[in-house]
Order: sequence, then C-alpha cells, then structure tokens
Amino acid sequence: MSFASRSAQALRAVSRRAPRTAVNSASKAQLASYSLLARNAVAASSRTPVVQMTTRGVKTLDFAGTKEVVYERSDWPLAKLQDYFKNDTLALIGYGSQGHGQGLNARDNGLNVIVGVREGGESWKQAQEDGWVPGETLFSIDEAIKRGTIVMNLLSDAAQSQTWPKVAPLITKGKTLYFSHGFSVVYKDDTHVIPPPDVDVILVAPKGSGRTVRTLFKEGRGINSSIAVWQDVTGKAKEKAVAIGVAIGSGYMYETTFQKEVYSDLYGERGVLMGAIQGLFLAQYKVLRANGHSPSEAFNETVEEATQSLYPLIGQYGMDYMFNACSTTARRGALDWAPIFEKTNIPVFEKLYESVKNGTETRKSLEFNGRDTYRSDLAKELKEIDDQEIWRAGKVVRSLRPDSLQ
Ligand SMILES: NC(=O)c1ccc[n+]([C@@H]2O[C@H](COP(=O)([O-])OP(=O)(O)OC[C@H]3O[C@@H](n4cnc5c(N)ncnc54)[C@H](OP(=O)(O)O)[C@@H]3O)[C@@H](O)[C@H]2O)c1
Repeated sequence: MSFASRSAQALRAVSRRAPRTAVNSASKAQLASYSLLARNAVAASSRTPVVQMTTRGVKTLDFAGTKEVVYERSDWPLAKLQDYFKNDTLALIGYGSQGHGQGLNARDNGLNVIVGVREGGESWKQAQEDGWVPGETLFSIDEAIKRGTIVMNLLSDAAQSQTWPKVAPLITKGKTLYFSHGFSVVYKDDTHVIPPPDVDVILVAPKGSGRTVRTLFKEGRGINSSIAVWQDVTGKAKEKAVAIGVAIGSGYMYETTFQKEVYSDLYGERGVLMGAIQGLFLAQYKVLRANGHSPSEAFNETVEEATQSLYPLIGQYGMDYMFNACSTTARRGALDWAPIFEKTNIPVFEKLYESVKNGTETRKSLEFNGRDTYRSDLAKELKEIDDQEIWRAGKVVRSLRPDSLQ
C-alpha cells in the first residue's frame, strides 16, 4: 500500500472516530484533540508537493514551474484561533449554503458567531433549525451588522447589491468586511458595492459548496480555500483572512486577488465544473440515442462510467493514470480525440472568459437572481433538467449499482 493511501486510510479512521454530532457540546479538550488527529494525518500525507521555502504554516510551493504561496492551518491551533478572535463577533449575513457551513464551523471552533437574515424568510427558518436563537444569536440583517465586528456578507451576490444602500452605513470604522466571492466589489459599476475606505476588506472563498464545507469539517478534514485582500487599513487584513479561513474549516489557503477569484470562479462554474459538463454529457447522450442506443447504454457510456469509475481516478492520481487504467484501444482513441475537443472548445471558452470579464455574466446574474421569484424560477429550470431523458434514465441506472443490492 502506498504512503498516500495509508494516509488516506488514517484520515478515514480519524473521520470514523470523530464525533458526528455538533462539536459545540464537546469540551474544549475534545475539540483540540479532534482537530489535531486530522492535522497529523494530513501532515503525514505524501501528496504534499515539493516545498521550496517554509515558515511554519506558510509555504512557497512549485506548481508545475510557477511558485505560489500557500497558507496552512498548522499555524493556527485552536487555542490561538480562539484567543485571536476573543474580542470579535462574527456577524454572518445570509444563511444559504455558505452561511450554514461557515457559520456552524466557526461556532463549533468556539468563536462568537451571530447570524443576520431577513425575518420570516426561508433562511430564518433554516437558521433556527441549526440552533441559532432569535434575539441571542439570530437577528435581522441590520441588527447583526450593528453587533458584529467582522461582517461576513454571505447573502446571495444579487442580494449583496440590492441591500448595499442599507448595509453600507452600518459598516463603520473598525469593522472588517468579509466576502466569499469577489463579485460585489470587483463589478462595482454594476453592483454599486463600494466599501467604506476605513475598513479592512477581505475574502475567503472555499473551493466547494457550503454543504461540503460543513461535511468535511465534521469529518475532521477540511476544505481548501482561496484568500484575498481588497483593502488593508490595519496592516492585519491578510492575517485576518487566513485566521477566518481556518475558523470556517479551511485546510490550505491559496493566495489570490478579488478579481482573479471572481473571474476564475464565474468562468469555471459556467465551464467544466457545471455548465460545460451538462452540455457535453447531453450532446454525447443525444448522439448515442439518435443512433439507436438504449437509454441505459447511452447513460452508462456517458455518465455512469465517468462518475463511478474514471473521474475518481483523475481526482486521485491524474489524467495520465486514468488513461493508463483503460485499454490500449481506449487510450489510442482518447489520445486522438482529445486535441479535437480542445481545439473545438477553445473559442467557446474564450467567448465565455470575455463574457465574464466584460461583466455580461454579472449583469445577467444580478437581473435574474434579484427577482423576487428567483428561487422558484431557478427551481423550474432545474426541474426541466431533471425531466430530461438522460437524467430520468440515470435514476434507474443508479438504482442498479451493485452496492445498492441488499
Ligand atoms: N454556494 C457555493 O458553492 C459558494 C462557494 C463559494 C463562495 N460562494 C459565495 O458565497 C456567498 C453566499 O452564497 P450561498 O450559495 O451561500 O448563498 P445564496 O444561496 O446565493 O444566497 C442565499 C442567501 O441570500 C439571502 N437573500 C437572497 N435574496 C435576498 C434579499 N433580496 N434580501 C435579503 N436576503 C436575501 C437568502 O435569504 P432568504 O432565505 O431570506 O431568501 C439567503 O440567506 C456568495 O457570495 C457566493 O458567491 C458560494
């Protein structure tokens, strides 16, 4: 067994031992050891690339010839983290998937966290279900901002823009303004979000959904995030960003800028992470169906084998490993067709990047997600995807996975 897989096994063992219930109720000592076990397992991992220079917890790593700075949570043991924020109140504005994940993680790490959402809305209900108490830790947006020293703006990007005229005057000198996306401040001509000049403005953007932020934290693992500073009036903005990154459950933090974060994020989610993958799956499936293949065959050869067998190999070991795990026939054909797909798609990706850069994607998102009916409008379009034959066939194929045999 490789060192890497032994480490992975150690991590899984830690996860199994780790308490699944809210760590809030655990003692400080339990919490500390809980984090430590996971950290030790991570440190032992041979997945760590070559370190060029390291002070404790800060590393300059060589990413395929380019050197980048990465921050690690080892610099922030729980006691230090709690001491650093002992005079702070983290006011989380918005309780969507990031609010849920980041808020519960920071709370379980023993920090003073409150939530601010509109009263009576969906988020108000969800926050109460997660144990936030009206009048104690759950407030209206205005009230939470007034009480907070670090205002974590986790409203939807459209809502950040809509609410800004009321929020801005409450962001008074000495507070810190935090985002998980560069969207609002980078596209300020469209969003009109212009932070006051006398506050630190920082970003921690987890590389995954808020649900994953939470589940990986509960497993004692953590998620990687990018961090950035928009405005540094105290000289401590970056340090604060790293510390909050750790508090919300980050393992490693990549340094970036607000602009690079928002460009790459909008581009990636419209591309291979979400939009392109649905488009590519559907195109391949439709051609198979048009040529007489059954739904199950078309689904198996498009989605099931990809997600169940091949993509996990890419995730764990890289593309060449996945190619090598397949037949010589498959390898020959894939090697021939990969450049054709690349060439065909470069113009699409260029068009997409331009659409992100010139703000077209931002304006569409602000318009659509700013509607009162944004939740039901999105749900309607997602239902249309769910109703596509490919995904209906997928439900049956998934039910036939051998691991679901009794
Ligand atoms: N989700 C991700 O994977 C992810 C990853 C990294 C970063 N981010 C960033 O994190 C931030 C939050 O994203 P999210 O996905 O957690 O949340 P979201 O689903 O985009 O937003 C939900 C929150 O916004 C509130 N909201 C919407 N319209 C409102 C309005 N007009 N007035 C007041 N509140 C309103 C909702 O409250 P109600 O329930 O009351 O409507 C809810 O609390 C965004 O900047 C996003 O780009 C997200």
